[in-house]
Amino acid sequence: MTEPQKTSDWQLYRRLVTYVFPYWYLFALSIAGYVLYSLGNVLLADLMQFLLDSLNDSAEAESGLVARAAYALLDEGDMTRLEFARIGVPVAMIVLAFSRSMGYFAGNYFMNHVARNLIHQLRMELFEKMQLAPSSYYDTHSQGVLISKITYNVEQITGAATKALKVLVGEGLTVIGLLGYLFYLNWRLSLIFMLVAPCIALVVNVVGKHFRRYSRRIQDSMGNVTQVSNESIGGYREVRLFGGQAQQNARFAAASEYNRNQSLKLAFVDAFSTPVIQTMLSIALGALVWFALNPEILSGFSAGSLVAFLTAAGLLGKPIRQVSSIQSIIQRGLAAAEDIFAQLDLDNEIDNGSHRVARAEGHIALHNVSFTYPGTTEEVLKGVNLNIRAGEAVALVGRSGSGKSTLIQLLARFYPLQSGEITLDDVSIADYELANLRRQLAMVAQHVTLFQDTVFNNVAYGDLARASREAVIAACQSAHAMEFIQRLPDGLDTLLGDDGGGLSGGQRQRLAIARAILKDAPVLILDEATSALDNESEHRIQRALEAIMANRTSIVIAHRLSTVERADRIVVMDAGSIVASGTHDELLAQGGLYAQLYHQEFSD
Ligand SMILES: Nc1ncnc2c1ncn2[C@@H]1O[C@H](COP(=O)(O)OP(=O)(O)OP(=O)(O)O)[C@@H](O)[C@H]1O
Ligand SMILES: [Mg+2]
Repeated sequence: MTEPQKTSDWQLYRRLVTYVFPYWYLFALSIAGYVLYSLGNVLLADLMQFLLDSLNDSAEAESGLVARAAYALLDEGDMTRLEFARIGVPVAMIVLAFSRSMGYFAGNYFMNHVARNLIHQLRMELFEKMQLAPSSYYDTHSQGVLISKITYNVEQITGAATKALKVLVGEGLTVIGLLGYLFYLNWRLSLIFMLVAPCIALVVNVVGKHFRRYSRRIQDSMGNVTQVSNESIGGYREVRLFGGQAQQNARFAAASEYNRNQSLKLAFVDAFSTPVIQTMLSIALGALVWFALNPEILSGFSAGSLVAFLTAAGLLGKPIRQVSSIQSIIQRGLAAAEDIFAQLDLDNEIDNGSHRVARAEGHIALHNVSFTYPGTTEEVLKGVNLNIRAGEAVALVGRSGSGKSTLIQLLARFYPLQSGEITLDDVSIADYELANLRRQLAMVAQHVTLFQDTVFNNVAYGDLARASREAVIAACQSAHAMEFIQRLPDGLDTLLGDDGGGLSGGQRQRLAIARAILKDAPVLILDEATSALDNESEHRIQRALEAIMANRTSIVIAHRLSTVERADRIVVMDAGSIVASGTHDELLAQGGLYAQLYHQEFSD
């Protein structure tokens, strides 16, 4: 399995940097801190020169960077160089160590500040993006995979942004500072040392590609781990009733094992690359000593500056190792950024219409509508023509899978039309502003969704959040929901569990109906809205709904035909086409599919 290198690192960096722009002042503070930190590192090496050359009281004792600063700032009076160093070196040591610590603090803290803001921003953008994604996006991605993008993937960028950026900037500046110092002391000798740089770069590059590949796989496997967990938790009853534990365990083990194997591969490359780089550095350092001890070159150094030179070269090891070992974190972050940016670049749900109405009349017409779900080949609606007058109550009936729910999903523009046209008040629904179109529809879907919130907030949801308590109670009464709400521990303010946990199927449906009634939209759509209710409750709600339907357009889908007998018109669908339409009596008289379904229902 080979994954293509989708985006170049450079493009990813550039895009990540745009997230840092708003916090440039924090970033600048952090860089300033790290400059101080690495300067401290370099000058601590230079301190060696001050110390050593003062021991034999030579004139060179005053030549180093720190030494010169000390002689300029402190009054040496009639002290010997050794006596001066006895005061100057400890003072310089403390001052340098202190400023290095302050630099480290500022660098770290402000970098974290920037990184945390970046993560928050990305996570918000990703979440908001998912709110705008088209239905087909949800059809083709599993819930677990999407959730792990928001949780796991974003967190990978956190690692890259906080830890890696800190090391990269802090230690990177130290490397630059130390190299600068080496060049300052002896540039020819330093060039020899630099010969190893391309070799290290090569290793880092090769290793980085492996890291990226493994990181992508680890990330995908986290999606699968989340998905299997989600299914097993959500469906624990089915799992137990059908004895599916072993099967679920095996699926989980497979996902987790893949994750482990890829993580181990990554760990192997990670653990292997650091010693390789370290060995290269040691060889370079060895060569350096060999050249430095050449009498000709040696003559250019004082004892102190030679030690300072070698100390600085030796000090390079740690930051270079650190910079190269954060590769794995950086690559994980980049793999995650790649995935997140790919999500952010997906097309939103199409919303380019501009037509707005305060309240539609409710005249709906379908002209030759054919539809195939994206990514499938079967046509589920075949040239459907339907005209629903404003205020008319139409019932849609037909066998399971005949395309009833699909038709109303198209009406709400969950999918773009492939051919034909749907109009609301003679304006194509594609020309409406999406939110405005959906405001005209109150829908009770076949699968009721409730939120982890109070009963009140579940009914007064979204646009309805400003509804008065009286209005919510009235809607609940019409939906015959108040009867059971009153018996809940805190009435309307009872907190519901995850997806309405704690309610029966019929109770959930009644809340969904109350929500639709509260919306008071010109078009009411009920898809099997009362299917979970007993006959008596269904009958009562039916009467209440009829009163509400009186002054609006309504489309009612029902399998229980007794509930739709009183509709103005009944439309019969079969295999994606409308096969008949008329009143109950007319359709019975025709003796077609409707009569057949009706007689079956009542012969049972
Ligand atoms: N998201 C989807 N992606 C692909 N195909 C789908 C999708 N939803 C439904 N279908 C297919 O479209 C066809 C029509 O489904 P639809 O839900 O419209 O039927 P229905 O008449 O509402 O049935 P029911 O009475 O059982 O609710 C079915 O064959 C179904 O397999
Ligand atoms: Mg359906």
